[in-house]
Amino acid sequence: MYNAKAVIAGIVIFVVLASSPFWLGYRGKNYTSTGVVLPKDEKSCIEDTEFMRAQHMRLLNEWRDEALRNENRVYVSAKDGRKWTISLQNTCVKCHNNYQEFCEKCHVANSVYPYCWTCHIIPTEGK
Ligand code: HEC
Ligand code: HEC
Ligand code: HEC
Repeated sequence: MYNAKAVIAGIVIFVVLASSPFWLGYRGKNYTSTGVVLPKDEKSCIEDTEFMRAQHMRLLNEWRDEALRNENRVYVSAKDGRKWTISLQNTCVKCHNNYQEFCEKCHVANSVYPYCWTCHIIPTEGK
C-alpha cells in the first residue's frame, strides 16, 4: 500500500540528507559562530563567506601546494577573478589582522588547533 504523502516526504528527506554535507559544512556540529572580529576596511573575503567558512582549511592546503610544489604564488578568485598573492601571512593574516579575535577565537571555540604557527609568524598585536 503506497501513501503518496509518505513517499514525497521520504524523497524530501532523502534530498536534504544527501545534500547535507554542503550546507552542514559550517552549520554542522563542529562549527560554532563565535562573534569574531572582521576586518574593518574590507567588505568581503577572497571568496564567498560561506565558502570561506567551510573551505578555508582546504584552500590553505591548496595554497601551500601551489606555492611549494608548483611555484605558483598567484591565486585567482573564483568569485570575481581578482588576483591575490598566495601567502598566509601577507594575504590572509594581513587583512584579518586581529589574529587573536578572528582565527584563534573561532578555533578555540571549535577546539581546532592548527599547527601552522610553529613556522609561520602570528601577528601578536591586533588592531
Ligand atoms: C581583503 C581582505 C581579506 C583577505 C585577503 C582575506 N579575508 Fe577572509 N574575510 C574578509 C572579510 C571582510 C570577511 C567577512 C565577510 C562577510 O562578513 O561577508 C572574511 C571572512 C572570512 C571567513 C569567515 C568568517 C565568518 O564569519 O565565519 C574566514 C574563515 C576567512 N575570511 C578566512 C580567510 C583566510 C584563510 C584567508 C586567506 C586564504 C582570508 N580570509 C583572506 C577579508 C579578507
Ligand atoms: C568562524 C570560525 C573560523 C575562523 C574565523 C577561522 N577558522 Fe580556521 N577552522 C575553523 C574550523 C571549525 C576548523 C576545523 C574544520 C574541520 O576540521 O573540518 C578550522 C580549521 C583550520 C585549519 C586546519 C587545521 C587542521 O588541523 O586541520 C587551518 C589551517 C585554519 N583553520 C586556518 C585559519 C586561519 C589562518 C584563519 C584566520 C585567517 C582561520 N582559520 C579562521 C574555523 C574558523
Ligand atoms: C615545519 C614548518 C611549517 C609548518 C608547521 C607549516 N608551514 Fe606552511 N610553509 C612553510 C615553509 C618553509 C613555506 C615556504 C615559504 C616560502 O617559500 O615562501 C611554507 C609555505 C606555506 C604557504 C604558501 C606561501 C606562504 O608564504 O604562505 C601556505 C599557504 C602555508 N605554508 C600554509 C600553512 C598552513 C595552513 C599550515 C598549518 C596547517 C602550515 N603552513 C604549517 C613551513 C611550514
